[in-house]
Amino acid sequence: MQDEPRNRAQVAPLPPLGRPTPAPGPGPPPPPLGQVPEHVAIVMDGNGRWANARGLARTEGHKAGERSLMDVVAGALEVGIAELSVYAFSTENWRRSPSEVRFLMGFSRDIIRANRDQLHEWGVRVQWVGREGRLWRSVLREIRAAEELTAGNTRMVLNLCINYGGRAEIVDAVRAVAERVARGELKAERISEATLTAQLYAPRMRDVDLLIRTGGEYRTSNFLMWESAYAELYFSPLPWPEFERRALWEACAAYGQRERRFGGAVDKIAPEGAASSR
Ligand code: FPP
Repeated sequence: MQDEPRNRAQVAPLPPLGRPTPAPGPGPPPPPLGQVPEHVAIVMDGNGRWANARGLARTEGHKAGERSLMDVVAGALEVGIAELSVYAFSTENWRRSPSEVRFLMGFSRDIIRANRDQLHEWGVRVQWVGREGRLWRSVLREIRAAEELTAGNTRMVLNLCINYGGRAEIVDAVRAVAERVARGELKAERISEATLTAQLYAPRMRDVDLLIRTGGEYRTSNFLMWESAYAELYFSPLPWPEFERRALWEACAAYGQRERRFGGAVDKIAPEGAASSR
């Protein structure tokens, strides 16, 4: 874990590292810096339907999703996103067929191994977010190797959420807090939001600014529940294998138009008498 503050106000300057290839061909330009969210979280949905619609097995959709993932990482670096979280395997995904679960575990392991040098060259720090439990040891080994290799990188944090569930994360955090109370280290009345945050899988993770779900479904599916309390939601009809950096930039542009109030409110009617003077 690095000692980065939560919700850092400015984007880190780009160090002289490998630059991802720019988006090829015409399309929307990158959003201006003021519209760029610091932390984007993505539910990469629609792989299976994308594949089945082409007469292919669901696993072919996941395979096609690797390209989208790396293009979106490149696009995020291009516009200065500081933190990107991707939902690769949820604690509920164990309910899928044994063959799909086997595929997803092996695929996650292989993707991490195949792309870690590229991510390192781009200055990305890889961080795993999830519960150990049933996670394959070989996946964990690759994650640890990628985390170690990229530990010193500061350009962007890439959170790989594998065997992750928002409720599971909160339950695990509550358990850790309860143990501190039981040991007499903490009084129950002193428990605050910060106490719980400190026990999350990645306590330094920024709050999510923009949560994107691809694949045309309108739900957040237990993804970063605590961290997304005030996230702006963006739903794309594109299946994940068709989502690429320009779609990410479109989502950022939509985010730039949102008014974020975090529970606050201001009166927008003109004060009495002001209308007649203008
Ligand atoms: C959801 O589509 C997608 C997944 C459960 C897996 C996505 C994983 C990747 C793209 C690989 C990323 C791996 C790492 C390690 C970052 P779905 O199968 O639910 O699609 P459907 O809604 O069409 O059925």
